[in-house]
Amino acid sequence: MTAPSGEGERLQKVLARVGIGSRRVCEDLIAEGRVRVDGDIAVLGRRVDPETALIEVDGAPVGVRPDLVHYVLNKPAGVVTTANDPQGRPTVVGLVPDEPRVFPVGRLDADTEGLLLLTNDGELAHRLTHPSYGVEKEYVAEVEGLPTRAVLRHLREGVELDDGPTAPARATLIDPSVVRLTIHEGRNRQVRRMCEAVGHSVVRLVRTRIGPLADRSLAPGTWRELTGDEVRSLQRAVAEPGS
Ligand code: URA
Repeated sequence: MTAPSGEGERLQKVLARVGIGSRRVCEDLIAEGRVRVDGDIAVLGRRVDPETALIEVDGAPVGVRPDLVHYVLNKPAGVVTTANDPQGRPTVVGLVPDEPRVFPVGRLDADTEGLLLLTNDGELAHRLTHPSYGVEKEYVAEVEGLPTRAVLRHLREGVELDDGPTAPARATLIDPSVVRLTIHEGRNRQVRRMCEAVGHSVVRLVRTRIGPLADRSLAPGTWRELTGDEVRSLQRAVAEPGS
């Protein structure tokens, strides 16, 4: 929404606040025509309402809405990916602050560990989980037995599951019984079912990356807020369907 002249905040101030760079750097970005507001290239002196304006730098929306929060949690096994569990098990929502209310982006099985996003940013969550955006998720699966090269090829080329064949994936052996699998679909229990289908049940499953987001130093059960750069890189990853 265009703020009438004289109202709203200066665009460079809003950009600087969300971590794009110093005000000077943000002024240069505007002067270079790299900033759009609601689809139009912005000029220096532009004022915006940061609550409603869609601001993009180099085509990537910037997270200017101060009401939005984005957490990454290292989910431990035994915690369920819901807000409320009728069986009273611990939930991922119980591991992050109560306010503002956030929801998990997609789900990990109760037994699965690793990175999970929680946010109140509905648009980003929708895009990250919608198959048309094809965001990669990387898992490390410890499996029963010793997968052969033929098994890995099968995982890469696609596995027949009861809800249809899986799309091509990346699969590499990082230890004799440990497969790193990168998929861009998000079907229910997909990695477990893929491994089972090729004869290697999963004994431990950890998600290690969501699109551009990874964090090897986040301890199990702990969370942190995403940096502005991380939010922007996620937004870039889902800027276009199929990109
Ligand atoms: N695939 C699975 O099998 N389980 C998960 O939790 C995530 C992906």
